[in-house]
Amino acid sequence: MRGLFIAVEGIDGSGTTTFIKNVAQFLRNNNFNVHVTTEPSSHTVGRYIRERLGSGKGDNTILGLLFAADRVIHFREEINPLLEKGYIVISDRYILSSLAYQGVDEELSWLEQINSRAQNPDLTIFIEVDELEGEKRISKRGSKRDVTEKLDFQKKVVQNYNILKNQMDVILDGFLSPEKLSELGVIEILKKIRST
Ligand code: TYD
Repeated sequence: MRGLFIAVEGIDGSGTTTFIKNVAQFLRNNNFNVHVTTEPSSHTVGRYIRERLGSGKGDNTILGLLFAADRVIHFREEINPLLEKGYIVISDRYILSSLAYQGVDEELSWLEQINSRAQNPDLTIFIEVDELEGEKRISKRGSKRDVTEKLDFQKKVVQNYNILKNQMDVILDGFLSPEKLSELGVIEILKKIRST
């Protein structure tokens, strides 16, 4: 039986990584085969994107094209083969990240077009926090900032995610405790598994 493809979305500092770690742990403890992955991916284009972001290159036309290429490679060569083996694949960010982040400077319709070869997820979960909370959490980490992590940019990303809410299946309140968040996430994932 084909597995389930889940994308988790949110602004920087929203807690997608912790959420995914907790949800994956629960699912593995309950004997599901789970693969956790992230975008930018670990493939060559994804590594190149991280290098660009780290060195302050924020051109969203170039990033849009690179992310779309990385996404198609990621889906066809990593995600889909595992879905065919019945895995639950959880991706930390996917198409909506491009629409929200590169959408700050680029046209939505063009971004949708160049991402149209990457298959949509079965379930999209959005973790909602505002840019001030995201900023507070990123500052606590104390690591070097990417170009995408500046406050005024994040504010626009929040606005774009708001416009995209009709493309999300589940919206979770990112101010909840990590335990409560993963509990709610697991409920939604199990509901989806039972309905397919
Ligand atoms: P992320 O892995 O969340 O950041 P980090 O590893 O530094 O915690 O993603 C890196 C950045 O890339 C993040 O700011 C969001 C951005 N991004 C885009 O701009 N477009 C995209 O399509 C994706 C997937 C990520």
